[in-house]
Amino acid sequence: MSSYKFSVELEKKFQWLLTRYPKKDAVLLPLLHRVQAEAGYLRPDAIEYVASRLSLSPARVREVASFYSMFRLNQKGQYVLQVCHNISCYLRGSDELIAKLKNILGISEGETTPDGKFSLERVECLASCDTGPVMQVNEGDYFENLDTQKVEQIVAALREGRWTSPVYDERIKEGSIA
Ligand code: FES
Repeated sequence: MSSYKFSVELEKKFQWLLTRYPKKDAVLLPLLHRVQAEAGYLRPDAIEYVASRLSLSPARVREVASFYSMFRLNQKGQYVLQVCHNISCYLRGSDELIAKLKNILGISEGETTPDGKFSLERVECLASCDTGPVMQVNEGDYFENLDTQKVEQIVAALREGRWTSPVYDERIKEGSIA
């Protein structure tokens, strides 16, 4: 029996989403985004609950959730740092960025710092290949044209609470988070 339930607000959003799509199961992706935002990650009981509300199997929901790197199936840190390692970013130094992040955070890829502040992930293309290397923080905040000095500045800003979303490379250049 699932212990997860939509909040009153999410139930309203769910009902609204149902009016926006021609088929019930088409609501799955937008719904998973909202469940993750509310629950922090896609807990097993949340996946079961979503499946029951959409008349899908839990395996189908888990399959979709695990395909996209923006969905989290495990509890992560407050800031999830995702570094693209595909060809454009790789050629422009993504491996050095990942090595730098591992060094300053003291964790490996796929891990979370003991204080629960940062998780580090190596991910597939983030669709910003012309501005690589690219790192995404949580959902949708992109840092582009990165180098090791910039990622160090970004981590320091996040750690010290000097970061407000969204932040782009221009802000680093302007010195507003450096
Ligand atoms: S290769 Fe890195 S964003 Fe596409």
